[in-house]
Amino acid sequence: MTNDAPATTNMPAPSALRLGQSAPDFVSRSTQGTLRLSDFHGSWLLLLSHPGDFTPVCTSEFVAIAKAQSAFVALDCRLAAVSVDSLFSHLAWIRAIRDKFDVVIDFPIIEDPTLEIGRAYGMVGADDPDASSVRATYFLDPEGIVRATTCYPASVGRSVDEMLRTLAALQRVHRGDALAPEGWRPGQDLLRVPTQSVDAVLAAADPAAWFYSPLPDEAGR
Ligand code: BEZ
Repeated sequence: MTNDAPATTNMPAPSALRLGQSAPDFVSRSTQGTLRLSDFHGSWLLLLSHPGDFTPVCTSEFVAIAKAQSAFVALDCRLAAVSVDSLFSHLAWIRAIRDKFDVVIDFPIIEDPTLEIGRAYGMVGADDPDASSVRATYFLDPEGIVRATTCYPASVGRSVDEMLRTLAALQRVHRGDALAPEGWRPGQDLLRVPTQSVDAVLAAADPAAWFYSPLPDEAGR
C-alpha cells in the first residue's frame, strides 16, 4: 500500500450512524499505508476514534489496546484508529509510545484532517469546528455493519476489557439463537430468545420461563 491519497468517503451527508447500518466506506492514509474501510470486510473490526495524538488518556488507551492485540486477533477482530491528526503526527506518536512504554502500535492509525470520516460517522456534527471531544468506538461485523457503538468524553478512557467482552457478546448473539445477559462472558449462561406464541406462554409451568430462560453456552464446557 502507498501513502498518497487524502481522506475521501462515499458518504453524501453527515449523519449519526445507527446500529444495523453499513459503515461508510472511506479511503485515507494511515500508519500502515493507504487503506479503505472495505479492506477490512471479512473480519470483525473495531474502529476507534481518539481526540488527539500525544494526549495522556489516548496514550493510555493505545498502550493497553496494543498489549491486548492478540486477544482481538483470537476473536478474528482487526483494529483501526482514526483522528484528525496528520499521518506524520501519528508516526511520531507511535515512535514516542515505543520509546516510553516499549509497546509497538501494530494496527493502523488513520488520518482524517478534513473531518470527512468524523462527519460521515457522526463522530462530530456538521457544524462542529473540531473533533476534540470525540472518543468513539464502532464494532463492525464482517460485512461492515455497525453492531455497537460507544462514545466517551475526552477526559475518560475506554476499557479494553469491556471492548473484548462486548465483542465476544456481539459475536455470540450474531448467530441469532441466543441473547447475552448483563455482563455476559463466554462460557456463562446466555438467555433464550423469548417465544412469541401465546399458546406457549399459557402452557408453560414456569410463569416466567417464556421471557426469562437461561441457555447454557457451549463455549468452555
Ligand atoms: C486525552 O486523551 O488525554 C485528552 C484528549 C483531548 C483532550 C483532553 C485530554
